[in-house]
Amino acid sequence: MGIKHCNNTNDFRVLAKKRVPSPIFHYIDGGADDEITLKQNTEAFEKCDLIPNVLKGVEDIDISVSVMGKKIELPLFFSPIALQRLFHHDGERAVGNVAEQFGTFFGISSLGTVSIEEIGASFSCPKIFQLYVHKDKGLNENMIEKCIENNFDVIALTVDTIVGGNRERDLKTGFTSPPKLTLNSFMSFASHPYWTFNYLFGERFSLPQLQDYVKEGTDIKVSIGDYFSTMLNQNMNWKDAENINKKWGKQFCLKGIMSVEDAKKAVDIGATAIMVSNHGGRQLDGSRSPFDQLSEIVDAVGDRVDVICDGGIRRGTHVLKALSVGAKACSGGRMYLYPLAAGGEAGVKRAMFLMKKEIERDMQLMGCKSISELGRHNIKFR
Ligand SMILES: Cc1cc2nc3c(=O)[nH]c(=O)nc-3n(C[C@H](O)[C@H](O)[C@H](O)COP(=O)(O)O)c2cc1C
Repeated sequence: MGIKHCNNTNDFRVLAKKRVPSPIFHYIDGGADDEITLKQNTEAFEKCDLIPNVLKGVEDIDISVSVMGKKIELPLFFSPIALQRLFHHDGERAVGNVAEQFGTFFGISSLGTVSIEEIGASFSCPKIFQLYVHKDKGLNENMIEKCIENNFDVIALTVDTIVGGNRERDLKTGFTSPPKLTLNSFMSFASHPYWTFNYLFGERFSLPQLQDYVKEGTDIKVSIGDYFSTMLNQNMNWKDAENINKKWGKQFCLKGIMSVEDAKKAVDIGATAIMVSNHGGRQLDGSRSPFDQLSEIVDAVGDRVDVICDGGIRRGTHVLKALSVGAKACSGGRMYLYPLAAGGEAGVKRAMFLMKKEIERDMQLMGCKSISELGRHNIKFR
């Protein structure tokens, strides 16, 4: 089976599992502790139903939305993801090309594997830089300055990784950055020669945003959980977030807001957007799902900031449900990471093509010509 035969996120997941060594697959696929939150993030969408209207003349529809100061061609974008060149040797370069083709936001992680400078020069799609606040203040300043110099559109400050989540699959497989060969993982690397060849003989693995400041993650092998717990600033607080916003001065998003209280504080410090997110179930297991939290947050701050629903999206109908509740847009990780691991740029392109088709078809079946026609009137919780 190739990517041509993948028709949904799960098909790409099955293919990705075959294409990359198991520590890599489980790093993408896994969550924290018992993975209850990971599962719930998607299941939450199945606890409500859409109610269509008919006979609305829906031949021509428009699924574009305006969010974080930009018009994007579909209400879904690429969440920032670490270590992408480990999933496929083209990594961010593949994802950026697809973001550009589909006219949507491209999220780039502080732990990205292609530099801010290269991404700034290569892609004209709207760009979000995801900031991890490190103990090393010079590093934080350097990343923000590079985003300013390279004309990024949004900084998204991740606020849900104050320590690393307990990702037990990574403990089991021994996954580290950069990957280490263990007795356990040896067979898995040996049985994926295409991946292993590209890793060993392709462009050297690096974390360009960090490597001039910290050795961990590039020269020193470290698990991502340990990286968060040792390198990030555990004392980060609202004042710090406000100062980053002031220094940056453009669209500013807080990624990982889950409570109404915090959503209001985000408004108070001048954030222009929040991503309601639990980091894809990789941090606090037992946390509520973003979709379940959405209505309370939209009711409290939806008229003052752009509320984005991040996590669990696997289908076009999931996007329509979140927009019906009041999200401005949705974002996702695994929906494009399985395709990236399964087939590089062609995989991501096919996945986004399918998602876009699904959203368009479902809009027509809902009797909606534009996203603004979606609302709470067309969704019912059981
Ligand atoms: C493999 C992987 C790596 C991630 N890396 C980052 C990261 O570097 N920074 C960040 O803020 N979030 C990161 N996330 C979280 C995503 O940005 C996003 O919140 C999450 O994937 C949403 O859940 P979904 O995968 O169900 O769509 C990562 C998620 C995954 C699956």
